[in-house]
Amino acid sequence: DWNMPDYISEAVEKIRAQVGSDEVILGLSGGVDSSVAAALIHRAIGDQLTCVFVDHGLLRLDEGKMVMDMFAKNLGVKVIRVDAEAQFMGKLAGVTDPEQKRKIIGGEFVEVFDQESGKLTSAKWLAQGTIYPDVIESAGKGKKGQTIKSHHNVGGLPEHMKLKLLEPLRELFKDEVRKLGVALGLPHDMVYRHPFPGPGLGVRILGEVKKEYADLLRRADAIFIEELRNTPYEYVAGQAVDEEQLPKNWYEATSQAFAVFLPVKSVGVMGDGRTYEYVVALRAVQTQDFMTAHWAHLPHALLGKVSNRIINEVRGINRVVYDISGKPPATIEWE
Ligand code: XMP
Repeated sequence: DWNMPDYISEAVEKIRAQVGSDEVILGLSGGVDSSVAAALIHRAIGDQLTCVFVDHGLLRLDEGKMVMDMFAKNLGVKVIRVDAEAQFMGKLAGVTDPEQKRKIIGGEFVEVFDQESGKLTSAKWLAQGTIYPDVIESAGKGKKGQTIKSHHNVGGLPEHMKLKLLEPLRELFKDEVRKLGVALGLPHDMVYRHPFPGPGLGVRILGEVKKEYADLLRRADAIFIEELRNTPYEYVAGQAVDEEQLPKNWYEATSQAFAVFLPVKSVGVMGDGRTYEYVVALRAVQTQDFMTAHWAHLPHALLGKVSNRIINEVRGINRVVYDISGKPPATIEWE
């Protein structure tokens, strides 16, 4: 157990000693690790840090704006936002295979990041939010998430750049990274968010990805998350939660929760009209390590409210279903 202010000043000194007056680039994803790394490095070297934030159009509702507000506006970090939505949608058009989609998104991400960071010709360092579990994992066999993560983190920067790696979180576990983030002034809710996969909504839209689908999914997902956060937790038999430290609300009581877009249409009624629209599935799981997971026994009243709100507020969705599959045999994501 370490003392946070001491830890921060030591880490800051170390970064300063390492980079001197050099310039540093960092790829910001909106995730916890890269965000905390950015906040820490900015604390150490201020304007010598430039962040590149690639918005692939597969982020959650208002996520891009949130990242820019937090870093550029509140913390005064230099952030270059690359709006690459159209480019990603173009590459994904007509592609339905899940692994193919992952490859395209990962590959395109590296391409866009390299292109932007290649313009910052004075940079000598590439900073990454690598944490201790990443270090251990990449020493062993890579798993699915790791391949993508290494894409995001390492990239394949142009040979001529020959950047040196700056990885100030390499010795920290996730819970330590979160505490550090809060101590550096990042909002608690951001730092304690559920994990979000690198390919984003790309693996939560089944089959072909389209902007129209992503827009519907973002809104449905935001309603689900909002209701999870706003509904106080109550213990239900069979819940896999720590009874010593009861969660405050259902967002905290679940390890990961999200909506999935199903590109099939079903019939519904509205007023005296018939509708024929898309389906959204809700997924919420509880897990320690994400290798196995239980579906969360969310209260029926909560599920009912989320369903009503999505159907009433998101034109284009007329049916909501709840996923009651455990992992294994199902995976947490649907693709
Ligand atoms: P599955 O669906 O395999 O997910 O049960 C386990 C955990 O890994 C995350 N996940 C990914 N993360 N890139 C990532 O960065 C990916 O391609 C990817 N696929 C799954 C998933 O969100 C869950 O937390």
